[in-house]
Amino acid sequence: MPLPTSIRREGSLAIVTIDNPPVNAMSASVRAGLLAAMQSLSRDSSVEAVVIACAGRTFVAGADIREFDSGVIEPTARQVLNAVERCPHPVVAALHGTALGAGAELALACHYRCAVPGARIGLPELTLGIIPGAGGTQRLPRLIGARRALELILEASPIGATEAQRIGLIDRLIQDDLATGAVAYARELIGEGAGPRPTSGLPVDSDGFDDAFIEQRLAAAHKRMRGQRAPDLAVEAVRAATQLSFEEGLDREAQIALRQVKSAEAKALRHLFFAERAAARVPGLSQSVPPLMIQRVAIIGAGTMGRGIAGTCADAGLQVELIEADAQALSNGLAALRAIYESAVGRERITAEQMTERLALIHGGLALEAVNDVDLVIEAVPEDIELKKRIFGRLGSLNCAGALLASNTSTLDLDEIAAASGRPESFVGLHFFSPAHVMRLLEIVRGRRTSDEALVTALALAKRLRKVGVVVANSAREPLAARGSEIGSGERGGHSFGFVGNRMMLEGYLREADQLLLEGAAPDRIDRALERFGFAMGPFTMSDMAGLDVALKSRESSGIRARRRPPYHEVADELARRGRLGQKSGAGFYRYEGGARTPLPDPETTALIEELARRLGIERRTVNDEEIEVRCVYPLINEGAKILAEGIAYRPGDIDVIWTTGYGFPRVRGGPMFYADSLGLANVYEEIARLYARLGQYWQPAPLLKELAESGRSFAQWSNERQ
Ligand code: COA
Repeated sequence: MPLPTSIRREGSLAIVTIDNPPVNAMSASVRAGLLAAMQSLSRDSSVEAVVIACAGRTFVAGADIREFDSGVIEPTARQVLNAVERCPHPVVAALHGTALGAGAELALACHYRCAVPGARIGLPELTLGIIPGAGGTQRLPRLIGARRALELILEASPIGATEAQRIGLIDRLIQDDLATGAVAYARELIGEGAGPRPTSGLPVDSDGFDDAFIEQRLAAAHKRMRGQRAPDLAVEAVRAATQLSFEEGLDREAQIALRQVKSAEAKALRHLFFAERAAARVPGLSQSVPPLMIQRVAIIGAGTMGRGIAGTCADAGLQVELIEADAQALSNGLAALRAIYESAVGRERITAEQMTERLALIHGGLALEAVNDVDLVIEAVPEDIELKKRIFGRLGSLNCAGALLASNTSTLDLDEIAAASGRPESFVGLHFFSPAHVMRLLEIVRGRRTSDEALVTALALAKRLRKVGVVVANSAREPLAARGSEIGSGERGGHSFGFVGNRMMLEGYLREADQLLLEGAAPDRIDRALERFGFAMGPFTMSDMAGLDVALKSRESSGIRARRRPPYHEVADELARRGRLGQKSGAGFYRYEGGARTPLPDPETTALIEELARRLGIERRTVNDEEIEVRCVYPLINEGAKILAEGIAYRPGDIDVIWTTGYGFPRVRGGPMFYADSLGLANVYEEIARLYARLGQYWQPAPLLKELAESGRSFAQWSNERQ
């Protein structure tokens, strides 16, 4: 194997190049190579300056995350970076791409930094549940002050080179070729007699780094990183920079970082990092099929989903035809879109010019003929299968023969809709989540006849829209009857009602939460318990936001409501029948005063629950928080196991990505399947079997869960065995 580091000489200049594709992660071999290079160059009196640069698409984009589980491997990043900083010749970092984590820390240990304008630099460690552990918390405050350093670390998102230069992180922007520019810059430094400039020798500017500031930034970080400890630990490390010597500060940082890398939080977030990337690799999908070019998109339906999807597409620079049958609905949709953009301008997320540009990409119309010549059609009308089939039936007579066809259905049988289009091979499900311009998840549904080209195009689209695309199947690999299907599994013909995300929510989580109401727990009690578990929002606050009529309609029109035995969403559906539709009607599980969004407990709901419980012969009792957690979360695991066995989801990690990016499952727990593994599947199975004995029907343990529990395996092992 070629070494990942090399040295090239240009007279008295030495250029060290790191070449470790794909992202030049600072693996053990890179560290060893870099240390050897710095040791030999430091001894070499013919060297007057050193440039450290990277081959390929980026400067070092971080430590090698795959090594995090293997403990400390020498030489450590600290040893290597100290060797860089102690070099007796000036060392210049030449940045392009993304200098992240250990890459940014390497740049901080160099004496000078230059970058192309497109480069980005940052310390995103907190997104992985860890803190910078290669001197970042000690060197950054010395370069830009403790206050700004803490902000950058807590924000955990990289900044551009121009901004980096403004705050003193980058010394020189190189407008043309980086290699040539960096060498010229190093020669300039030699000419000026500029010697080494070790960051560790600089004093820390603690101006404004006070408790009030720290509290405020910490609160903002906790809001974004629910349930994480890492933000507090980052504060502790940066505080150490303001109080201790550099070496003592490094010791403190190392102590915290080494402990935290082994924490449950960090393991969960690492799992999600790799699971999100693995989701793009679909088993059996040919890598060589090129995606279709998508530039013009028709979106049918200007309701909440349609307009959100239109905005998402315009944000990515796509041209949008927003089609709606009803003139008033169209103008409402366009007005709502403008309001979304205006609010984004108000919050300084985008500029007024960007708003104008994006709105100019969206064209509204009343005729379906606007689909002519588009590259993609996304249908986003209400969940009525006949309506959807009618729309796609009409497309056959219009001029969009080459277009990818997509339905935004969240529950219905995609194959049935695809068949109505006459082009099932060009058909996929694109299940966006509301609000579509905010939520990161895109569930891509693969029909029985979806072509590889259609799937590859959908995945490329997800990336272009900056979403996490997860491919799921519309129906089970084999007829369910053959496998002895259980209640809660897929439907007729093997179709998975609700695919992965909604199926787990409707058949597991929400169904059980609804039943707990009948057994005696109040809506706010259940909401609070699950928020404490880490969900972004409790199930009933969420249901009230989504609208109870929408859920009832999909259960009724699909025939599911009639096929399931009670208790099955009894409270939710009765509330909807009585016109309590949630926030939009001022009352649902909760009541809302004067159009406000604050959910208030409602005695009317309690009375209805008591009435239903009486009717169903359910005895009411006190339900504690622990039971609420188990009763709502374990069905996710059980249903997830069925979904895996049926081949509806390809990997447990895909389910985890769906639930953490689309349904507010706590990222610090890694998603329901990772969480199950961390509890031990034998424990989970035992509990589910106990609940099956007590509650019957819906709790029947999934055969896969039973099999794994009995053989002492985890979902992760099962998944690896199938690679
Ligand atoms: N360690 C190990 N592997 C890494 C890695 C790291 N720090 N960063 C990226 N990779 C791998 C990815 O897993 C992926 O592998 P795959 O192709 O086998 O799935 C590959 O590199 C490309 O990454 P991807 O994210 O798909 O490419 P991108 O161009 O969209 O984004 C980055 C590139 C660098 C911006 C992005 O990968 C990233 O943010 N990496 C993590 C940076 C980080 O947090 N660093 C701090 C670590 S302490």
